[in-house]
Amino acid sequence: MAALQEKKSCRQRMEEFGHYCWNPDTGQMLGRTLSRWVWISLYYVAFYVVMTGIFALCLYVLMQTIDPYTPDYQDQLQSPGVTLRPDVYGEKGLEISYNVSDNSTWVDLTRTLRTFLAGYSPESQENSINCTSDKYFFQEGFRAPNHTKFSCKFTADMLQNCSGLVDPSFGFEEGKPCFIIKMNRIVKFLPSNSSAPRVDCTFLDQPRAGARRLQVEYYPPNGTFSLHYFPYYGRKAQPHYSNPLVAAKLLNIPKNKEVIVVCKILADHVTFDNPHDQYEGKVEFKLRIQK
Ligand SMILES: *[C@@H]1O[C@H](CO)[C@@H](O)[C@H](O)[C@H]1NC(C)=O
Ligand SMILES: *[C@@H]1O[C@H](CO)[C@@H](O)[C@H](O)[C@H]1NC(C)=O
Ligand SMILES: *[C@@H]1O[C@H](CO)[C@@H](O)[C@H](O)[C@H]1NC(C)=O
Ligand SMILES: *[C@@H]1O[C@H](CO)[C@@H](O)[C@H](O)[C@H]1NC(C)=O
Ligand SMILES: *[C@@H]1O[C@H](CO)[C@@H](O)[C@H](O)[C@H]1NC(C)=O
Ligand SMILES: *[C@@H]1O[C@H](CO)[C@@H](O)[C@H](O)[C@H]1NC(C)=O
Ligand SMILES: *[C@@H]1O[C@H](CO)[C@@H](O)[C@H](O)[C@H]1NC(C)=O
Repeated sequence: MAALQEKKSCRQRMEEFGHYCWNPDTGQMLGRTLSRWVWISLYYVAFYVVMTGIFALCLYVLMQTIDPYTPDYQDQLQSPGVTLRPDVYGEKGLEISYNVSDNSTWVDLTRTLRTFLAGYSPESQENSINCTSDKYFFQEGFRAPNHTKFSCKFTADMLQNCSGLVDPSFGFEEGKPCFIIKMNRIVKFLPSNSSAPRVDCTFLDQPRAGARRLQVEYYPPNGTFSLHYFPYYGRKAQPHYSNPLVAAKLLNIPKNKEVIVVCKILADHVTFDNPHDQYEGKVEFKLRIQK
């Protein structure tokens, strides 16, 4: 019975709610007086202003500690990766095979080289400078246009017989193909103490006594990456930087037989024995030339 008496009618509820929204006796609105509402609003405004300020300050301090010219996390890369052109991947890594007598089997390979070297045309390199020194090209300031550092030119003609200019077939037609080796860039990496890094290509099983040694013509001569292309200061500091290249023209590849060739970079600070990265400091590829 008591519960029944306490039960309020709908109209009573509406009245109570109205009273709650605006109580003319105490001057309260939604349970608080107007001045209390003003104070509470001011409190929250001040609270959020302070929080936003603290957040902005943290962000600002963080940004101050970041150098826009060098990536912060590159300690994984101690030794540069090496890439090969033409790059045809088979089931297990790079596999290049073609038939000397059938030019349709190698036109794509030479096209890959031509496309790649288009980035090394005199026009693509026109924002870089001629460098002749055989020493590291250290640059303290930003003396190049647009607050950048200078980059050294590397033009395809430096690859001479493997430039595609003298021999448009890059040696594929005569069974003495050219391969282009590129060392990936690492910011502020100095590959060696004094002598320039050098590419050395051999048959993988060469140590066997009596086995025929791989004969190679390197371009530029001796297969070196001149020290003046190092160090690399990053994309923002050197927007026109191009990786230097070395071309290896393989002169005595046996015909109708698969061989494995490995090209290593020999330099004091380049390693090529990382079991977790087969392209660190070296590149290995299968090659089959048919006739
Ligand atoms: C290479 O191509 C020529 C001409 O098309 C053909 O006669 C020859 O059998 C091919 N060699 C091999 C090993 O496929
Ligand atoms: C391929 O060889 C054929 C016959 O020797 C020749 O007609 C054709 O022009 C050659 N194609 C290329 C791209 O060299
Ligand atoms: C750079 O070398 C190229 C080719 O040797 C030459 O044509 C060019 O004038 C040189 N540029 C400068 C700025 O010395
Ligand atoms: C410098 O920046 C301007 C505008 O972005 C650009 O047109 C010009 O090519 C730049 N110069 C060099 C040498 O990069
Ligand atoms: C380039 O090729 C030509 C013709 O095969 C040869 O005579 C010359 O010695 C080669 N150049 C070099 C630097 O080996
Ligand atoms: C290169 O220099 C480093 C440090 O100066 C030294 O530890 C290392 O032995 C040098 N390597 C060679 C091959 O000279
Ligand atoms: C190639 O290496 C040999 C021996 O290390 C050296 O005498 C020669 O000057 C080098 N040639 C060039 C063009 O660097």
